[in-house]
This record gives sequence, C-alpha cells and structure tokens, in this order.
Amino acid sequence: AAEVAGLEAEIRALAKEKDAVILAHNYQVPEVQNVADHVGDSLQLAILGQKVPQSTIVFCGVHFMAESAKVLAPDKRVLLPNLSAGCSLADSITAESLEDWKARYPGHAVVTYVNSTAEVKALSDICCTSANAASVVRSLPQQKILFTPDRNLGRWVAAKVPEKEVVVYDGCCPVHDVLRSANVEKVRASRPEAVVIAHPECRADVIDVADVVCSTTAMISAVEKFPSARTFIVATEHGIVHQMKKRWPDREFIVADGCIGCRMHCPYMKMIDLLMIRDALVRGKHEVRVEPDVAAGARRALERMIAVPR
Ligand code: 13P
Ligand code: SF4
Repeated sequence: AAEVAGLEAEIRALAKEKDAVILAHNYQVPEVQNVADHVGDSLQLAILGQKVPQSTIVFCGVHFMAESAKVLAPDKRVLLPNLSAGCSLADSITAESLEDWKARYPGHAVVTYVNSTAEVKALSDICCTSANAASVVRSLPQQKILFTPDRNLGRWVAAKVPEKEVVVYDGCCPVHDVLRSANVEKVRASRPEAVVIAHPECRADVIDVADVVCSTTAMISAVEKFPSARTFIVATEHGIVHQMKKRWPDREFIVADGCIGCRMHCPYMKMIDLLMIRDALVRGKHEVRVEPDVAAGARRALERMIAVPR
C-alpha cells in the first residue's frame, strides 16, 4: 500500500510538471481509476479531452478511445500507456470489410459505434455511442441504415426505432456477448429484489431481463433511480464495480455472471498499471497519431454525432 501511495504521488506530481491530464475508463483497474483526474465512459472522456486546459492527455483505456480523443483534440499530445490495449469489437471491422458492406447495401446511411478505429469512422456517415444510438438513427434523413460493428447494440437500436430499416453488421464484444439471461436469473434467484443494469453490448435475452440499459457512466448514475433498492446486478465488465462502490458505498453490486473477474473481464482494459502511467509521463509513451485525412473524416462523423440532440 505504501508503494502504491508513493507511485500515486509521483504520478500526480509528474502530471502537473508535464501539463498532463489523466483520463481513465470505468473498466480500468482500481489503482488507475484512483490516480486519474477523471473517470468516465468512452465518449465522455473524449469530449472532456477537448475541454480540459492541459496540453497532454494520458488516456487510460483502449486504443480506439485514445484515438477518438486525439481526433477531437488534434493539437493535444495524446498518450496511451500501453499500445497493446486494443478492443475485440473495434477489431471486428476493418476499412476493407466496411467498404464491402457499403457496396452490398447501397443507399444505406452508415452508423458506426464509437468502438471502432478512426479509419472505419472516417468511412461512416455518423458515429454513435451506447448512450445516443437510438437518437442518432432517428435523426438521419435516410430510411435505410447500416449499423456497425456491434450486432447487439444494432438490434437494440432497431427495436427502439422500428420506423427505420436497420441492417446490422455481425460484430460483437466477447466480454458482453458471453452473458446469457440464464446467468442473470441464477444470480437473481438468491436476491429476487435486485435491480438489473445492463450495457447494450449484451445480447437481446439479457437486455430483455434488464431494468435499465445504458452506457457505463449512465449505469453508475442509474442507481439513483432506485432509492429503495439495496442490490444491483451489473451486466457489464467488472471494473465498473469500483466506481459504483465508491459512489454508492451502502449498496451491493454483483457482476451478472456471478463471479467477479471470471468471464465479464476485458483483458485489454487491464493492460495499464501505475508503472506504465509513470513511464508514459516521463518518456512521452506512446503517442497516438492519426493520419490527417483519416482524422478529418473521423472528426466529421464524431462531430455530427455530438450535434444530435439526445
Ligand atoms: P462505454 O462507452 O459505455 O463506456 O462502453 C465502452 C466499452 O468498451 C463497452 O464495452
Ligand atoms: Fe472492447 Fe469489449 Fe473490451 Fe469494451 S469490453 S473495450 S468493447 S473488448
């Protein structure tokens, strides 16, 4: 504990000296969340990166998130402490596979979830997040939509916006897709009063048994909608429980697979530790760069999304 406290103090001093802000996603390991200036969901952090006064952003999350921060704040230096922190969902679609899909579905507006590379975003009409996906689809003049890359989020949106014809790409997040409603029901059997909060990357059978479905930060805030509930079953990556317990210390949070850190575990989100953050600050590792034309296309898709009223 003394070692962690010493590293934390060193990192905070270095961040000040280097004019850096530390942003951490809700799935990061507790020590990383604790040392960060801000903890949030992917979109929130990218927008925050634009607004904060610091010239360097140390992004503790996965590569596509750091890339979005760079795209939205091109004049800032964005550092990802571990370049291996990828995302299976973002990797499920490439620029080439999106080009193929676009050719197969002419006349469709392409809506791409932010969990994607800047190259894929640049080939899309507009981006969306788990928080605004339905509003984004509703806002488009086109009747036909090609939704990429998450099939679960895509199907959830299609059900919410039945007036549109939504074709869904076949990608998914394995961390969420592994969960079944039977797992949730098994946990609920011992706590029938529990409220179920799910991320829309979960499969439809899980969404159907959830009381609330929203982005990670909205999942944390959703607790306040249930003042008399003591127990919450959380259907997303287990790292979120750290923020939930911090904000709501008198409530109980159980990961929906019934075993913290077993299946709903994103290995990419656990690739950054305090030593890497210190290294990132000392050595400027690893700077995230996006080709100017790709960045311009991705920025257009992200800014179109940000302009959509919720
Ligand atoms: P949020 O944008 O809701 O934080 O989700 C990011 C993510 O990677 C979910 O798996
Ligand atoms: Fe990607 Fe899934 Fe990990 Fe989120 S939880 S970063 S979508 S692999």
